[in-house]
This record gives sequence, C-alpha cells and structure tokens, in this order.
Amino acid sequence: MMDNKDLEAEIHPLKNEDRKSQENLGNRLKNEDNLKSTPPQTRLSRCRTVAFFLSLFTCLFVVFVVSFIIPCPDRPESQRMWRIDYNAAVTYDFLAMEDINRDRIQDVVFLYKNTNSTDNSNQSCADEGFSSPCAFVAAVSGANGSVLWERPVAQDVALVDCAVPRLSDGKSSACVLVGRPSSLTAVDLLTGETLWSQPSSFGGNASVLSPLLQVPDVDGDGAPDLLILTREATQVSGYIYSGSTGRQIGHRGSLGVDGDSGLLLHVTRTGAHYILLPCASSLCSFSVKGLYERVTGRESPFKRDPLWESMLNTSATRQLLHSSGAVRYLMSVPGKSGQDLLLVSSEACVLLDGQELTPRWTLGEVQVMRKPILGHYKPDTLAVVIENGTGTDRQILLLDLGSGAVLWSQALPSFPGGPPSASLPTADHRSAFLFWGLHELASTNEMEPRVAQHSLYMFHPTLPSVLLELVNISAHIIAFDALLFEPSRHAAYVLLTGPASPSVPGLVSVTKHKVRDLVPGSRVIRLGDGGPDSDQAIRDRFSRLRYRS
Ligand SMILES: *[C@@H]1O[C@H](CO)[C@@H](O)[C@H](O)[C@H]1NC(C)=O
Ligand SMILES: *[C@@H]1O[C@H](CO)[C@@H](O)[C@H](O)[C@H]1NC(C)=O
Ligand SMILES: *[C@@H]1O[C@H](CO)[C@@H](O)[C@H](O)[C@H]1NC(C)=O
Ligand SMILES: *[C@@H]1O[C@H](CO)[C@@H](O)[C@H](O)[C@H]1NC(C)=O
Ligand SMILES: *[C@@H]1O[C@H](CO)[C@@H](O)[C@H](O)[C@H]1NC(C)=O
Ligand SMILES: *[C@@H]1O[C@H](CO)[C@@H](O)[C@H](O)[C@H]1NC(C)=O
Ligand SMILES: *[C@@H]1O[C@H](CO)[C@@H](O)[C@H](O)[C@H]1NC(C)=O
Repeated sequence: MMDNKDLEAEIHPLKNEDRKSQENLGNRLKNEDNLKSTPPQTRLSRCRTVAFFLSLFTCLFVVFVVSFIIPCPDRPESQRMWRIDYNAAVTYDFLAMEDINRDRIQDVVFLYKNTNSTDNSNQSCADEGFSSPCAFVAAVSGANGSVLWERPVAQDVALVDCAVPRLSDGKSSACVLVGRPSSLTAVDLLTGETLWSQPSSFGGNASVLSPLLQVPDVDGDGAPDLLILTREATQVSGYIYSGSTGRQIGHRGSLGVDGDSGLLLHVTRTGAHYILLPCASSLCSFSVKGLYERVTGRESPFKRDPLWESMLNTSATRQLLHSSGAVRYLMSVPGKSGQDLLLVSSEACVLLDGQELTPRWTLGEVQVMRKPILGHYKPDTLAVVIENGTGTDRQILLLDLGSGAVLWSQALPSFPGGPPSASLPTADHRSAFLFWGLHELASTNEMEPRVAQHSLYMFHPTLPSVLLELVNISAHIIAFDALLFEPSRHAAYVLLTGPASPSVPGLVSVTKHKVRDLVPGSRVIRLGDGGPDSDQAIRDRFSRLRYRS
C-alpha cells in the first residue's frame, strides 16, 4: 500500500499534494457535511482557466466587433471646392459660418435678393407676404454646397446678425434681421424657421446703424436682448427689443448725440456696459444703464462706471475723447487685463486702455479705410493688420498689438473697396494671412486695360519675403472670409460674388475653395532678394502648413 502510494506520488506529485491538502482540508472540515465531489483547488484553477478564456474571448469579441461589425462613424466627405449660382439676383455684404447640419463641418449662411423666386427654392416672396424681388436667407452645407434651407425673410435687409443665442438651449443660435421697411425678424439658424417677426418702430427716414448690439437679458426671460441704434437728422436713438419675442421694451430713447455706424458695446473693468459710437472726430459713449432707464423709465440691473461717468460729465455731447481725424473703426481687442480698445481714425491708429482710455501706443500718419483684422505674426502674440491708403497707394502693415511696432509692411495695390483680408491660425501658433490685391504687383501703371482682376495673396510670417499668388478672380467680390471648416484641418475660403450695383440683378455665386489645393498652381512672388529656395520648395512649405482651431 505505502509503496504504491509513494510510487503514485512520484508519478503524480501534484495529485499527491492535492490529495494531502484534500486530506488536511477533509480533516478540518470533518464535521461539515458540505464536502463536494471535486477538490476545491482544482475547482479554483478550473475557474481561473474559465475566467481567463472567457475574458480572452470577450476581448477578442470586442476587438472583432469594434473593427469589423460596428462601422466607423461616417466622416462626411468634404468636397475641396464647390460653387452655387443664382441667376438674376443681387447679394449683400454678409457671410456667416456655423455648423448647421451638425456634421462638424462649418456651413455657410448668406443673403440674396432674388428677382425670380423659382431659382432654387420653392418658396416665393408672396408666400411670406413680400412683393418680388425680396431678400432670402440661405444656408448651404460647407461639405458639398447643397442647400440646407432658404427662405424669404424681408423685402430688403438693412442689418443682420447670425450669432444671437437662443433662449431654449443656449447652443443653437438665431439670425436676427432688420428689414426694410420696418421689420424685425429672427430665424432659427438650424432650421430656417421664423422664430418671431415684429414690425420695427424706427422712423421712416431713420438709417439703422451697424452692427446690431446684444445686451445682457433685461426682461428676465433668460435670453440676451437686442439693442438697435438709428440715426435720423443728426440724432441717434436707441431701441431695445426682447431677444426671445422681438417685442420692443419701453419706447425710443434719444441719446442726444450724432454718430455713425461702427458701434461697439464695451464692458469696463468694473462691469459697466457702454455703447461706443464714432461721432465725427470724437468717440462718443452712452451707458446702457442710462439708455435702459430712458426707454423704460425703470431702474435697471446695469452699472455705471464712476470714472467713465466723470469723463462723460465734462462733455455735453457725451464725448469720451477727441481723436485726430474722424473716427472710422472701433475694435475690442484682448489686453493685459481685460479688453482694450483699438481706435482707428482717418489719421492714426491708437490702442486705448479699456478702462482708463489712455493711449498705450499711437501709430500716426496712416490712412486706414478698412476695419483692421487680427492674427499672429510671432507665435502666440497678437498682431493687427491694417491697410494704409487705398487703391494703387495701398500698403499692408502688420503691427504688434502690444507695442504698435511695425512687424512687416508691403505695398499691395488694390481696387478701392476691394475685399477684406483674412487670417488663418497655423499649428506653429502663428497665422497665415490672405490679402487681396491687383494682379500685377510690380508694375501698376494704368497702361493696361482695366480687366478688373483681383488676386488673392497668401503670406506666412516664417517666409517674410515671399507672397504666394493663389488665385485670380475677375468677378465682383461682395464678401470674403477664410476659416477652418473642420477643427484643426481643412482651411478654406468662401467667396460671395455678385453684381456691383444692387439695382442691376446678375449672377450671384458662393464658392468654397480649399486653400491647400491652390498652392501647387500658385505663383511665387519674391518681395526682397529671394532666398535660396526654389519656387517649388516654397510651394511645398506652404503646402505643409498645418492649421489649428
Ligand atoms: C422667372 O422664372 C420664369 C419661369 O420659372 C421664367 O419664365 C422667367 O423668364 C423668369 N424671369 C426672370 C426675370 O428671370
Ligand atoms: C417645398 O416646400 C414645402 C414646404 O413649403 C416642402 O414641404 C416641400 O418639401 C418643398 N419641396 C421641394 C421640392 O423643395
Ligand atoms: C451633401 O452633404 C449632405 C451631408 O452633409 C448630404 O446629406 C447630401 O446628400 C449631400 N449632397 C450632395 C449633392 O452630395
Ligand atoms: C423724410 O425726409 C424727407 C426729405 O428728405 C421729408 O420730406 C419727409 O417728410 C421725411 N419723412 C419723415 C417721416 O420724417
Ligand atoms: C455729473 O454731473 C451732474 C451735474 O451736471 C452731477 O449731478 C453728477 O453727480 C455728476 N456725476 C458724476 C459721476 O460726476
Ligand atoms: C502710410 O502711407 C502714407 C502715404 O503712402 C505714408 O506717407 C506713410 O508713411 C505710411 N505710414 C506708415 C506707418 O507706413
Ligand atoms: C493670374 O493671371 C496671370 C495672368 O493674367 C497669370 O500670369 C498668373 O499665373 C495667374 N495666377 C494664378 C494663381 O493663376
């Protein structure tokens, strides 16, 4: 017996140990009658094996499901270029971008006035009670240019803003249109449905000052409210409308000043809201609190800033400061502590502290006829692009926003009133800049017949002595913008072309073009003594530019 057992133990050492431990256990559990037929250790290892294979199979199954059965989320195919046309229409200097169909590609919103309502839409002016022609809002897919929605909104449009947050969810937004004559309409940006439409109460001869301003909720419905200023016979008046219903709050409030378009709503560092408006060679201002109290006769939730009030108190005409030359543009720009103000007058460009209104820097001897744009020349450092002069005397200047120093300048003749510039953020924390100019850079003599050809030039700060001529356009350009259609990729420009005169209908086109696709066919223009790089090497560097959101 012993021999056999030992022999067996030699042959099956583990089994023997199992048995021993089983015996031990058996001894320990002698009194308990819940002994099962399988030894617990074996059961445990079997469990382990089963668990191991089970988890292995689960893993493999998940890998299989993920890689073969569940399809990848469809990345919508984005066309590199698309174009849509409207015959016999006119268009407005307005473009807005927003992801309307939620495909994570920006879509394009624009306005046109159609003489014939049957072009692309089955809705006619008469459906909405307008006579033909009337103004339509259209939203087209940024991916392929297909029309998402379009609808008649007004007889004619005076002012439009497509970034008005909606009450319901705060995510989607509305387009608010000030129509001529006297209508105020909000359209859901996602569906094109009319949210509300009200008659406006502006005087018959009043001109609406741009832009539309949004003030924090005053009627307590949770949506920002709308502030519209009009000018009639050298008097500026303010109107406040509810952002969620379009109903007027209070009545007309006179500001007691004259002023021009180019309004800005500025919040001082003490949290007080002020309307800034260019008034001849001064900057005029009015507190939103004062205007609210004037239109409603009630106390308002807004604040006044003691410093600003004392500045305004010394002037009967509510002038904040005098500038050399007529004030043309006002811009809110990020400063070291809060928002600063960039003030562009007909003779100078001044950066003002957003609270004290003291100049941080002044660049004199410039004639800026176009609103500046911002971009990055040095990594992560804001630069401002201004155009000095117009027509054949135009010069592009890139200024350091912090100091006003000229970083780069280049003569770039253009047509008066040519399209604006644009900037695109690149992955190296700088920007690519797009400028429009006349085709022939070097010789701009008037010898050649005026074949009005605009050229789009691209510039990147890492190649400061090179401009790339991307494309020539001979159509009349109404609006232009460049942006990233998808996060971190797909930089493209959108061009709205149409008849120069709003009274002569013609071909209206909206075109999207991917910027990178234009680089291989572009013309390299060397501004200084060209570097050693060949033209192809320069194009390759522009092709390799990565864009970021
Ligand atoms: C408007 O459209 C109709 C048919 O759709 C056409 O017969 C007419 O000529 C068009 N009018 C204009 C001005 O294009
Ligand atoms: C025409 O408009 C109606 C709504 O007014 C819509 O239901 C219909 O689908 C539209 N048809 C086409 C072809 O766009
Ligand atoms: C355009 O893209 C949308 C999705 O973004 C798609 O629904 C539509 O069918 C496309 N149209 C064309 C003409 O490809
Ligand atoms: C508009 O201006 C014209 C003259 O420019 C004047 O005859 C007319 O009475 C004005 N209308 C209103 C409503 O003020
Ligand atoms: C502004 O002037 C009025 C009198 O013209 C005075 O009552 C008021 O206190 C002044 N406000 C400030 C902030 O200086
Ligand atoms: C702006 O242009 C004018 C006229 O061409 C020129 O005299 C002036 O120096 C320019 N300003 C700057 C800052 O370059
Ligand atoms: C623009 O047109 C000119 C001639 O009119 C041509 O030399 C140039 O290459 C064109 N540029 C581009 C980018 O096509």
